[in-house]
Amino acid sequence: MRIAVFAGDGIGPEVTEQAVRVLEKLDLPGLELVEGDVGGAAYYKHGHPLPQQTLDIARSCEAILFGAVGDFSCDNLERHLRPEQAILGLRKELGLFANLRPARVFPGLEDLTTLRREVAQTIDLLIVRELNGDVYFGEKGIRTLEDGRRQGWDMMSYAEDEVRRIAHSGFKAAMTRGKRLTSVDKANVLETSQLWRDVVIEVSAEYPEVELSHMYVDNAAMQLVKNPGQFDVIVTGNLFGDILSDQASMCVGSIGLLASASLAEGSFGLYEPIHGSAPDIAGKNLANPMATILSAAMLLRHSLGLEAEAARIEAAVAKALADGIKGGDLGGSAGTREIGDAVVERL
Ligand code: NAD
Ligand code: IPM
Ligand code: MN
Repeated sequence: MRIAVFAGDGIGPEVTEQAVRVLEKLDLPGLELVEGDVGGAAYYKHGHPLPQQTLDIARSCEAILFGAVGDFSCDNLERHLRPEQAILGLRKELGLFANLRPARVFPGLEDLTTLRREVAQTIDLLIVRELNGDVYFGEKGIRTLEDGRRQGWDMMSYAEDEVRRIAHSGFKAAMTRGKRLTSVDKANVLETSQLWRDVVIEVSAEYPEVELSHMYVDNAAMQLVKNPGQFDVIVTGNLFGDILSDQASMCVGSIGLLASASLAEGSFGLYEPIHGSAPDIAGKNLANPMATILSAAMLLRHSLGLEAEAARIEAAVAKALADGIKGGDLGGSAGTREIGDAVVERL
């Protein structure tokens, strides 16, 4: 069981350290952790945010535990050298097309979200976000028009096979849950979304038990705060899924709680919190490591088939929260390390 650990920038190393402590506490026979450089840290050390040796480590492992990348001192570099290219490159190079981002309210947090208690406590949803296509990976640039004006452009596209495989991921996830799937698009305006909707409807024929509905992304953003309990599984494209998942995180209390799995065909996956490197709180022992710890649990479940151990981690996090262990993001005073301690103690 070789697991790559790519901590990255900002709070990445702080939150990853706590997730590693949790994994080590489980004392799993044969577990080997291999560290690698990504993001701004890798750029400053090797001249590239995703060095070849990091990719080699990734390919030699069964899964990746990832912290976060992003460093404002790199924001003026050419795009291919920016820290974010590390995570985008890993997703693309390793075919990690299915991003699962679950959101539910942990017991004890019902009054700590930005929603009213009776709304918040209904949330138990899963966002299935496509991760290898969309406007993220289309041709792009800033060009000068004939009249001298500069124009920024990014090409949005989805090929039908890309939509089909993520639609299958969405339907399959729905089959293991409440059997309801909401496909989120902008088909009233975008041709990319029209094809998306057509293909999702085609795929739905293979899943007669799943109740499929379609929603425009603007309405979905509104419905997420109005009546989030209506959602079971949401399947959507790369950009819409990025935005809606940050929004969903606050509906359950904090972005510091949302874990994710980025899966390829088969069992390989990358596991990371949905948040970024949070430079505003980096190095201060203020970051909530729970999203990364819960990502480690997803790693054990999806890539190593260790369901019982995954559930143990999730129960320990839930217990810590129920016992009032909260970071500043949830109005508490526990630091990153203290939250890690609390979870380790409860394992
Ligand atoms: P961010 O998610 O890093 O931070 C947004 C806000 O949430 C900040 O106020 C931050 O302090 C807070 N926050 C985030 N994680 C937290 C945690 N675990 N505990 C407590 N508070 C937390 O988003 P941003 O500020 O827009 O981006 C910062 C950098 O991170 C940028 O360079 C961006 O590109 C990068 N980024 C990387 C990833 C990734 O590695 N997958 C994801 C998102 C953003
Ligand atoms: C995320 C992040 C990334 C994304 C960035 C850092 C490239 O926001 O993982 O949600 O947009 O996918
Ligand atoms: Mn994001």
